[in-house]
Amino acid sequence: MLEIDGLSIDFMDVEPPLRVVEDFSLRMEPGEIVGVVGESGSGKTMTALAVMGLLKRRARITSGRMLFQGKDLLALSQKEWEAVRGHKISMIFQEPMTSLNPVLTIGGQMEESLRLHTDMDRKERRRRVLEMMGQVGLAQPEKLYGCYPHQLSGGMRQRVMIGAALIGRPKLMVADEPTTALDVTIQAQILSLLKEMNREYGTGILFISHDLRVIRAICSRVVVMCQGQTVETGSVEQVLRTPQADYTKKLIAAIPDRGARLRGGRKGLA
Ligand SMILES: Nc1ncnc2c1ncn2[C@@H]1O[C@H](COP(=O)(O)OP(=O)(O)O)[C@@H](O)[C@H]1O
Ligand SMILES: [Mg+2]
Repeated sequence: MLEIDGLSIDFMDVEPPLRVVEDFSLRMEPGEIVGVVGESGSGKTMTALAVMGLLKRRARITSGRMLFQGKDLLALSQKEWEAVRGHKISMIFQEPMTSLNPVLTIGGQMEESLRLHTDMDRKERRRRVLEMMGQVGLAQPEKLYGCYPHQLSGGMRQRVMIGAALIGRPKLMVADEPTTALDVTIQAQILSLLKEMNREYGTGILFISHDLRVIRAICSRVVVMCQGQTVETGSVEQVLRTPQADYTKKLIAAIPDRGARLRGGRKGLA
């Protein structure tokens, strides 16, 4: 479904250009949840932005290939991107307050993809939004529909983002640190919601996090990045049990109470 081969990204506004992602490769099957993990500054967000065609001009893809459902993403025009982004590929970010529009109602934002990409009428869109609100665990959908983002808690806003990202039934969702801003209990709830939605809709998730615990809770495979380079890739089990790269070992060592958690197997976050 998604194939990235040898992707490199350079910042062009410095001399010489600054390489922030080097030779990144990834293959995702439909419905798979694949993780990208690495410390802050390792190039995860730049990679995510590249997959969504959202790199700023200063950052340029200098080599590599990206295919989505067999289509060359690097050859898409702005217009073609608009038909893909938010529809076939959707995204959620760390801080929903910055991605939600403060002056638009929750309902209005959740129906956007239906308004732009389907011919559903207003009534049908509203019905779908209310249904989706229920699915992502938002209580009292009717009441919430007309609320504004600032009236919601961080966890509720992230549920809104997930609902908005999934309502058009995308094939791929890029989730860049979607739980990092949330406290641990809410994090666990959002992760299980993502897993449930993945099962329900078959949406593949490219899940980006600096936190291996979170990756372990949700991903089947993982790519480990360090300073723009891929240092390791494999199944989550394998990478956690027999890490090859020193950097990965360091990340594992940083997981608090890792011994108990590893013995406990993959039981969510705790
Ligand atoms: N606007 C920018 N100009 C120059 N360098 C940048 C800019 N934005 C990010 N970078 C650099 O790109 C690298 C990768 O950043 P990023 O992908 O955001 O990392 P991550 O998401 O893994 O924390 C970092 O080293 C960062 O310093
Ligand atoms: Mg980032």
